[in-house]
Amino acid sequence: MKSTVTSELAVVVPTFNERDNVAPFLEALAGALGQIPYEVIFVDDDSPDGTADTIREISQRDPRVRVVHRINRRGLASACVEGMLASSAPYVAVMDADLQHDEALLPEMLERLKTKNLDVVVGSRNVSGGSMGEFAQHRVRLSMLGRRFSQSVCRCEINDPMSGFFVLTRPFLMEVVHGVSGIGFKILVDLLASCRRPVRLEEVPYRFRNRQHGESKLDILVGVEYLQLLLDKFIGDYVSPSFVLFSLVGASGVVLYLAVLWIQLSWMGVPFLQAQVVATLTAMTVNFLLNNAITYRDRRLRGWNILRGLILFYVACSFGVLINLKTAEFARGEGFPWYAAGLLGLVLSSVWNYGVTRIFTWRAIRKVRAIRQTRPATARATAIPER
Ligand code: GDD
Ligand code: MN
Repeated sequence: MKSTVTSELAVVVPTFNERDNVAPFLEALAGALGQIPYEVIFVDDDSPDGTADTIREISQRDPRVRVVHRINRRGLASACVEGMLASSAPYVAVMDADLQHDEALLPEMLERLKTKNLDVVVGSRNVSGGSMGEFAQHRVRLSMLGRRFSQSVCRCEINDPMSGFFVLTRPFLMEVVHGVSGIGFKILVDLLASCRRPVRLEEVPYRFRNRQHGESKLDILVGVEYLQLLLDKFIGDYVSPSFVLFSLVGASGVVLYLAVLWIQLSWMGVPFLQAQVVATLTAMTVNFLLNNAITYRDRRLRGWNILRGLILFYVACSFGVLINLKTAEFARGEGFPWYAAGLLGLVLSSVWNYGVTRIFTWRAIRKVRAIRQTRPATARATAIPER
C-alpha cells in the first residue's frame, strides 16, 4: 500500500466568537509551519457569531482544517481535550485563535519536543525573554496568584502554568487524559496535575500579543472555575467539586435565611410563619441563581428556562426539607444526640437536593432545548404539523 504523509502536528484551537480571527490565524500558521505536515482542529462551542460556519467554509477548500462543533457546551479546557482526542497526530499543539500566541515558535517547540525526549514544551510569558505584553496590571497580579496555586498541584517546575500555548506528545496525552478534570480555562495545569510522575517539560519564551478582533472571554467566574479545578485536583477522587460548591452555596443560603428572618421579625413586626415563608423563598431563589451562575456555569439556564428551573428547584428542595425533618426525627427516635440527628438530616437532604436538581433542573431542560435548537430550519418548515 502506498504510504501518504499524514499530519505530524495537530494544532488544536478552542474558539468562541472568533469569526474575524480565523482566516488571519490560519494564514499566520501556514506561514510559520512551512514544510511541517499539520492539521488544524478548531473546537467551537456554537459561537453566536457563526465562527463554525466560517471554519467550515475554509475547510471546504483546505482539507487540513476542520471544526468540532459542540452544541450546548461551554469551556475552554474541555474543548481542548476533545480537539486533542479528535486527531491521531503524534504531536499536538494547543493555542488560541486570537493571534495572541506566537505561532512562529511552533517549529522550535516541536523540534525540542522531539530531540530532547520531552513530554511538553510550553510557550511561556514568564521566563526571561518572554513578556506579558501590554497585559493589564491586575491581570499580571491575578496570573501570579494563580501560578502560586497551581505550582502546588503540578508535579514539575514551571514558570507559566497558566499558559494556553503548548505542544505535547500523544503518549503523554494518553497517559494523563483520563485524569483530566476539563473544568474552566486552565487546561495546562489540568494536564500536568494529572500526571503521576514528574513531567519532562521545557519552556520557550514568547511575547503575548494584543488582540486584534473580538474580545477576551476571561471574567471573574473564570477565577471561580479555577478554584473548582484546584478543588478537583485535591479532593476530586473523593467528592465531586460541584457538590462542594453546591454545599457552599447552600451554607450561604442558611445565613441569608436567618438574616431575612431576623430583619422581618425585629424590624418589620411580621408574624413568624409569614416571615419564615418569605425568608425561605428568598434563600431558595438566591441559592438557585448562585448555583446557576457558579456551580452550573457550563450549563447555565437562560431566558424562560430560568423560571422553569426555579420552579423545579423549589419542588426538589421542598422534598429535601421533608427528608431532612423525617431523617432527623427518625435518628432522634433511635437515640442519636440532637446534633448528630440534625446533621444527618442535613447531609441526606443536601445529597438529595444536589442529585435531583443536577438531573432535573440543570440537565433535563437542556435536553429539551437541545432538541429544539438542533432541528434545522428546513426540517422545521417541512415537518408534519404536531397534533
Ligand atoms: N470552545 C471554546 N469554549 N473556546 C473558548 C471558550 C469556551 O468556552 N472560552 C474561550 N475560548 C477560546 C477563545 O475563543 C480563544 O481562542 C481562546 O479560547 C482563549 O480565550 P481568550 O478569551 O482570548 O483568553 P485570554 O486571552 O484572556 O487568555 C488566554 O491566554 C492566556 C495566555 O496563554 C487563555 O488561553 C489563558 O488560559 C492563558 O493563560
Ligand atoms: Mn486571548
